[in-house]
Amino acid sequence: MLTQRTIIITGASSGIGKETAVQLLNAGHRVVGMARDFTKSGVQSREFHNVSIDFADSGACEASLKQLAKTITGITDIVCCAGAGRFGSLEEFSFNQIRELMDINFVSQACVVRAFLPQLKQHGRGNIVFVGSEAALTGSRRGSVYCASKFAVRGFAQALREECGGNGIRVGIVNPGMVKTPFFDRLDFTHGESTENYIEPADVASAIIWILNSRAETVIDEINLSPLKKVITKKPVT
Ligand SMILES: NC(=O)c1ccc[n+]([C@@H]2O[C@H](COP(=O)([O-])OP(=O)(O)OC[C@H]3O[C@@H](n4cnc5c(N)ncnc54)[C@H](OP(=O)(O)O)[C@@H]3O)[C@@H](O)[C@H]2O)c1
Repeated sequence: MLTQRTIIITGASSGIGKETAVQLLNAGHRVVGMARDFTKSGVQSREFHNVSIDFADSGACEASLKQLAKTITGITDIVCCAGAGRFGSLEEFSFNQIRELMDINFVSQACVVRAFLPQLKQHGRGNIVFVGSEAALTGSRRGSVYCASKFAVRGFAQALREECGGNGIRVGIVNPGMVKTPFFDRLDFTHGESTENYIEPADVASAIIWILNSRAETVIDEINLSPLKKVITKKPVT
């Protein structure tokens, strides 16, 4: 059991971020969740504080994040789970959709870290964990913008690890394949129905928490997880 930490989790209203928040709250930590809409999350805890913020326009987030970093203090760790999927050939994207996906999946996550990194440094040790994707490892058809956003997260994590190690801050990234979450609700495909065809959000949360709980002097750079059998199923967008 760790001493009590105060952990920012972006994307804590749903899926992987929510499951990570629940597991950390159950272990006695404080969580500051960031997402647009927490009414759906159902997380009930006095130690859970939620912040409504829209990461789709990183420029518009700047003032809010600077203000939040003044009012929310004592942050020991940051877990960046917020993200969205949009897939298709490049010409199916408007210019604005390209910018928006990069903002949600990468730029805003980098800005959250930028805003709160001084607090982690002040604490003298801490962790920054990103949820990347298998799309951070290999480019794939219909994934040009999504893969670019996740490659950006992975490159950022690698470089930040070099930058922050001297301050006692470890940087890790977890790259899942298909996870059973509402991520697919707005997409025209999903994972297969068999339990062999998807990862559970709890599996990804466990990998994140393993990184947080590991011996402070050891850095777990990267964890890749996949379903046993990858199956992609076409479906109508809901
Ligand atoms: N599910 C998969 O198969 C899979 C595989 C590999 C990687 N990932 C990555 O895992 C991470 C978590 O996804 P998930 O599967 O848990 O999906 P999810 O259940 O849809 O959760 C996504 C989270 O991101 C937040 N978010 C999305 N757009 C946002 C915006 N504009 N502003 C602020 N917050 C926003 C959502 O909150 P609100 O909607 O309340 O704003 C939600 O909390 C993402 O980075 C995703 O790319 C997922």
